[in-house]
Amino acid sequence: MNGERAPIGVIGTGYVGLVTAVGFAGLGSDVWCVDIDEVKIAQLRRGEVPIYEPGLAEMIDRNRERLHFSTTLADAVERARLLFVCVGTPPTYAGDADLSAVLAVAGAMPASSEHALVMKSTVPCGTGRTLTRMLDEQGKGGLAYVSCPEFLKEGSAIQDFIHPDRVVIGEDEDGAHWAGDAVAALYEPLGAPIVRTDVASAEMIKLAANAFLATKISFINEIANVCEETGANVLEVARGVGLDARIGPRFLSAGIGYGGSCFTKDVSALKLLAANSGYHFQLLGAVIEVNELQKRRVIAKLSRRLGSLAGMRIGLLGLAFKPHTDDMRGASSLVLASRLEAEGAIVRAFDPVASEEARRIMPELDCAECLADAVKDADAVVLVTEWPEFLELDWTTVAAAMAGNVVIDGRNALDGDAVRAAGLVYEGIGVG
Ligand code: UGA
Repeated sequence: MNGERAPIGVIGTGYVGLVTAVGFAGLGSDVWCVDIDEVKIAQLRRGEVPIYEPGLAEMIDRNRERLHFSTTLADAVERARLLFVCVGTPPTYAGDADLSAVLAVAGAMPASSEHALVMKSTVPCGTGRTLTRMLDEQGKGGLAYVSCPEFLKEGSAIQDFIHPDRVVIGEDEDGAHWAGDAVAALYEPLGAPIVRTDVASAEMIKLAANAFLATKISFINEIANVCEETGANVLEVARGVGLDARIGPRFLSAGIGYGGSCFTKDVSALKLLAANSGYHFQLLGAVIEVNELQKRRVIAKLSRRLGSLAGMRIGLLGLAFKPHTDDMRGASSLVLASRLEAEGAIVRAFDPVASEEARRIMPELDCAECLADAVKDADAVVLVTEWPEFLELDWTTVAAAMAGNVVIDGRNALDGDAVRAAGLVYEGIGVG
């Protein structure tokens, strides 16, 4: 074992698991990573990183001697007291979180008062209570349970691990406090505020944070839509509103709706959790509906400019749900591309990183090999994901390649003046 810091186990090697593992390895812990996916573990042992996340491969490489990969839970249990659970909780058909992977991990744990399950997977409020009851029934009541939700963002996950706004540690009164203390000690060098609370509140903090951020986005998107009717500019409005310290400037970028697996999943999971507990969470219903409509707004903008979209060539710039990731889950591009195709448009898309993933999810989508191919002969071009390379485009070259002249900026990220100077028609979201 290297260093003086406690070794840890990390169960599940997706985004959250890998970032947690390399983060703690970077702080000096030996980390035993376990996953049931043999292919993924073999890749990781060879030094290959199965996901795209800036800085992750380098971090894994730098901390190689402290990172151990295995498909056997016992490898982690034998060496570490704290076992961070980072398995997926995808939505079920009913929209609730599917807890089968979490339950499988808990079921596989030995009866031990030396160990703690530290829940990082996003779970509905009440899961900790259900799990501790289940462990009790299985004669594993001695196992400690800590809720330690994760707040990292894809694309900046390593930075978010190193500079968290806060660390939340939930533990129940009857729990053994050694586990919460040990988790707090692990995070202590990061210098972030640590919120010690009960398990149910920790679980709710995670869901409420995501739901609030999604609400902020749907709110500014509706303001943008009203700006279009009234002649105001949502960029100016967001700037003025965001300077109010009670509101804050972040997550006030209007666009074509939020995507990703987290907001989509967690907002509906919280709405359903409320409904299952007998409460109708009206606000979240509107947040979801606004977001779905926002993903489709570009269609109306294109129709106003081009008339019928049948036979029109539309170039999509970007497919990932946001820049710096290859993640396509919940991406607005999926709705936009399929709506365009339903209108009879000929869609050609380019994403610097997510094309392969997009082809897997939407095999019928025509993914160009390079940007020039996506804009060639296009009647209109739509910025879907604000990758830095799209923001530096030479619009004169783009204009020369296009057949038409319409540019819709779905993220208000382009320099409208530069687009117009190239003889193109520029339209953003709520910017007049
Ligand atoms: C989100 C949260 O921000 C994290 O704190 C949380 O840990 C994570 O979910 C999770 O639960 O795992 P993430 O989905 O990676 O992180 O991405 P965000 O940066 O939050 O962006 C989500 C979506 O909102 C993107 O499609 C982005 O383009 C959109 N967005 C974001 C806007 O449309 N406007 C904004 O002002 C900000």
